[in-house]
Amino acid sequence: MSLRIGVIGAGAMGAAHVHMLHETVPSARVSEVFDADAARARQVAGSVSGRAAPSALAVVESDEVDAVLIAAPDFTHAELALACIAAGKPVLCEKPLALTAEESRSVVEAEVAGGQQLVQVGFMRRFDPSYRELKQTLTDGRLGEPRLVHHVHRNATSNTSTTDANLITGSMIHEFDLVRWLLDDEVASIAVASPIRDGFRDPQLATIVMMRGTLVSAEVFVNAKYGYDIRCEVVGTSGTASLVPPAHVSTRIGGAEGVPVGADFVVRFATAYQNELRAWTRDALYGVVTGPSAWDGHMANLVAEAGVRALESGTVEQVLLEPAPAFYSEGAR
Ligand SMILES: NC(=O)c1ccc[n+]([C@@H]2O[C@H](COP(=O)([O-])OP(=O)(O)OC[C@H]3O[C@@H](n4cnc5c(N)ncnc54)[C@H](O)[C@@H]3O)[C@@H](O)[C@H]2O)c1
Repeated sequence: MSLRIGVIGAGAMGAAHVHMLHETVPSARVSEVFDADAARARQVAGSVSGRAAPSALAVVESDEVDAVLIAAPDFTHAELALACIAAGKPVLCEKPLALTAEESRSVVEAEVAGGQQLVQVGFMRRFDPSYRELKQTLTDGRLGEPRLVHHVHRNATSNTSTTDANLITGSMIHEFDLVRWLLDDEVASIAVASPIRDGFRDPQLATIVMMRGTLVSAEVFVNAKYGYDIRCEVVGTSGTASLVPPAHVSTRIGGAEGVPVGADFVVRFATAYQNELRAWTRDALYGVVTGPSAWDGHMANLVAEAGVRALESGTVEQVLLEPAPAFYSEGAR
């Protein structure tokens, strides 16, 4: 049995998902693609023997589509996720689930009202082998009690349309989700420092306090120039564990030793994306959601909203936590 997938948005991320589904997920078939750029949709759909659709809603409602993958810009996510819920179709929605917490709450409410979990959010780092191993060192008790987490998130260059708030709502949102997942705890408060305004505020450094008191730092620097660099260290009462940057080769040339720094997220997280797509396809065929849920997407948005307030106010902002609906208590973490 195979899952016929409709993809909305065929830019860098959408096209990468289409090709990974085609090449690495035997039980998935990309049947339709929509992009605001019709030529791009035709080209990406044609490369996997799919067809270009006339609109995003046509994809959601198509008889040839069993499940939907949303990789269009952030502002489209909530409305499209709601349309998928209304159509009763499983959806993998790229992060963030919505631009605002008000919108992500509406997705959660619609899903709960529909009585069936359909939404998975594209927090793919939960599927990355190194992050999973890091989480394992916590769950098996080897690190003792977590006291500190340090995140580094650097891109070589940013999109020209990036704004101050985007660094929090679009980039740091990965770290917000990860820290909830790694520590099985919620974010209590956040402060964000970013004194340099060189066009926009970059880098930004967040200091987060978790409900159980763990301290978290999260650096986002989207114009770091030298490459894409993701680091994470968890310091516990018995020791510390860090991600080791993946590399296939180390060179010694001209008196210097080195390993390459990857160019972007598609390279660094290739295995994570594949694992994410495989798991989502399997779950959609079984009619379940075991990956990051709409609730996880909403909680990350609540933290992001407090983060944007903190960047503007220059002070510590509390996260306005909400009680989790019982509906999500069976969700996988
Ligand atoms: N999980 C991750 O690691 C990760 C990484 C990068 C991007 N993303 C997310 O993926 C999404 C896409 O990002 P990207 O880097 O591919 O951006 P992109 O700019 O490369 O591509 C966006 C595509 O969407 C199309 N588009 C614009 N408006 C549209 C609309 N209303 N309906 C349908 N298509 C529309 C554009 O023509 C373009 O082809 C964003 O939400 C982004 O936050 C996630």
